[in-house]
Amino acid sequence: MKKWTDMQRNARYETYSSQTLATLQAQQANSLWHLHYHLQPKSGLMNDPNGFVYANNRWHLAYQNFPYGAVHGLKSWHEISSDDLQHWQDDGVGLQPHAPYSTQGVYSGSAIAVGERCFLMYTGNVFTESGDRISTQLGAWVDADGTIDELATPLISAPPTGYTQHFRDPQILHQNGRYYAILGAQRQDLRGTILIYSAKQPEGPWQFEGPLDFGYESLGYMIECPNLAFVDGKVALIFCPQGLEQSLLEYGNIHPNVYLLADAVDWDHHKLIRPGKLHNLDFGFDGYAAQVANAGTQGARLISWLGLPDTTYPSDGEDWQGCLSLVRELHLQAGHLRQTPVVDALVGAVNSETHDKIDVASVLHFEWPADVEETLYLGNSQEGLELHLSPQALTIKRIETSGVTATRHATLLPEAHQADLYLDASCFELYLDEGTVVLSGRIFPSGDWYLSRPTQNQVQVTSRAMATIF
Ligand code: FRU
Repeated sequence: MKKWTDMQRNARYETYSSQTLATLQAQQANSLWHLHYHLQPKSGLMNDPNGFVYANNRWHLAYQNFPYGAVHGLKSWHEISSDDLQHWQDDGVGLQPHAPYSTQGVYSGSAIAVGERCFLMYTGNVFTESGDRISTQLGAWVDADGTIDELATPLISAPPTGYTQHFRDPQILHQNGRYYAILGAQRQDLRGTILIYSAKQPEGPWQFEGPLDFGYESLGYMIECPNLAFVDGKVALIFCPQGLEQSLLEYGNIHPNVYLLADAVDWDHHKLIRPGKLHNLDFGFDGYAAQVANAGTQGARLISWLGLPDTTYPSDGEDWQGCLSLVRELHLQAGHLRQTPVVDALVGAVNSETHDKIDVASVLHFEWPADVEETLYLGNSQEGLELHLSPQALTIKRIETSGVTATRHATLLPEAHQADLYLDASCFELYLDEGTVVLSGRIFPSGDWYLSRPTQNQVQVTSRAMATIF
């Protein structure tokens, strides 16, 4: 695997030739792991979804991208848009890193529709010569034709006293006639928290309101990517606490993406009203940095990075990394978020039942009774997914070609269940009971996959083809 120095990771895009970019793009397009219906980078590394918004009758989304390799290098936004959240048009590179405020990267941020235009609020990242980080919160207008007009000076030029330069990922909101932004932050005592700012206009001046009281004074050592989602009359706070204490929530990944539900936000006192306990947003292997679009009467949608910070993947050997989840519609069910994938235009005909070979782009539907005790295996002798179903839990064991194995599980009520497992060339997403539990992750097949199950099986399985759109 290629080793990158800091200088190489931060080299200006102009130092690369168009030939280099074309070669990297071809390598991604021709990969065995090139995804059929999940968003992936054209080249290099894709991480957080950014600027997710419904504006001018169309969905707009960007993603964090380092186009020149499978490393967290110099980040820009790559723009895409869609009518149905399933077929996406490539709108090209959006915000690009430049001096003086985003010299070492345009980091994550959000978008809000303001009349015909959109306003972007995002983090500019700079590393000084002595290696210190400087984070500022920047703004830009986007015209209906996609032209970006960056504001010359930061909206917020420094974190408030008592907080470090780990200060990023603003979500801009419009509530009760005022603009608000919530940001991921780190206190001077190295504890993670979320800060609130407010302004009359998107362009500011932005005023510090205080830390958001969400039922915890602080969590872990840093909080990234906070989002408020307005769902079925309640509020979900979705965020990524780094270094979260396992005693507060059991999780299996390097850092979890979590959520809690509250009745409402009390903006005047910067607190959530009756915040509940922490839940995993995704019980799988790779979900992180989810972003929400609050689309008024259309409700809330969520999309997640299927990748993790500080983690390597087999596709790194082909100079690309990362993909995004399907877009999920958010609802509440029995005190939890329900995430239902938007797939109506992607699901095709039922596959023939005469063989157990699994198509690289397919969805398997499972139904099982309350007293089930069964193990199914999808894969080959090199790698695969082992699904163990019991009355109390659903367990997935991921066996990688390298021999590395990992297990994740979700607790079940002892009743009949059903699940949809979306398989794509190098990722999977399992939605239990229409999304009350989600487990997703990456897996990198070396060859064909087959479904094996016991002869006396209690689980009904049907499979459908999924569209190839990428
Ligand atoms: C989360 C994150 C954000 C940051 C971005 C940089 O994955 O670390 O906090 O803005 O990625 O790419």
